Amino acid sequence: MKKLLIAYYTETNTTKEIAERIAGLAAEKAWDCDIRTLSELASVKGYDAVLIGAPVHGMHWVPQANVFVEKYREDLKNIPTAYYLVAYLLNCSRPFFQKLIRKSLDKASDWVAPVKSGLFDGRVKREFPAFARWLFGVKKGTAVDLRDWEQIESWGKAFVGDLDR
Ligand SMILES: Cc1cc2nc3c(=O)[nH]c(=O)nc-3n(C[C@H](O)[C@H](O)[C@H](O)COP(=O)(O)O)c2cc1C
Repeated sequence: MKKLLIAYYTETNTTKEIAERIAGLAAEKAWDCDIRTLSELASVKGYDAVLIGAPVHGMHWVPQANVFVEKYREDLKNIPTAYYLVAYLLNCSRPFFQKLIRKSLDKASDWVAPVKSGLFDGRVKREFPAFARWLFGVKKGTAVDLRDWEQIESWGKAFVGDLDR
């Protein structure tokens, strides 16, 4: 059985739940999936594919994710590797911030070119206060969980489909 590693970083489980959904799709296609936090991994050896998922903080993919890619870059270069980011402000903020978020996988992509990259809307615990809404350009009443499960599933299916090709 081919082995897929989904390695993630999370603070409030949003990224983890996405990892689990994608692992479910991969399992349906007979992939043996390990879902691990970045911090519990000491190697990426032995996997036939790797997916690294992490949220965006300060308009950047969290440093833990970049550190992981840089650390294992020589091994990852020999394994089909994909990335996804999870960002609340991906589509609901001013274009300036959206642009920064969309560029935030660039560093990792320079180290190890991904076979696929996913950009997913995220979740916050509560609605932003008025000042933050004004600063980031988020409309009042914007849902706290903006994840689009159809988009995530369709990305996940395409990712697994490409690996099987
Ligand atoms: C400290 C902190 C900083 C954040 N900064 C950003 C940001 O700059 N841009 C953004 O789109 N979302 C930001 N977020 C929101 C997260 O990207 C979003 O909530 C994501 O879904 C969290 O994923 P997680 O539950 O896996 O940690 C931030 C969240 C936290 C906790």
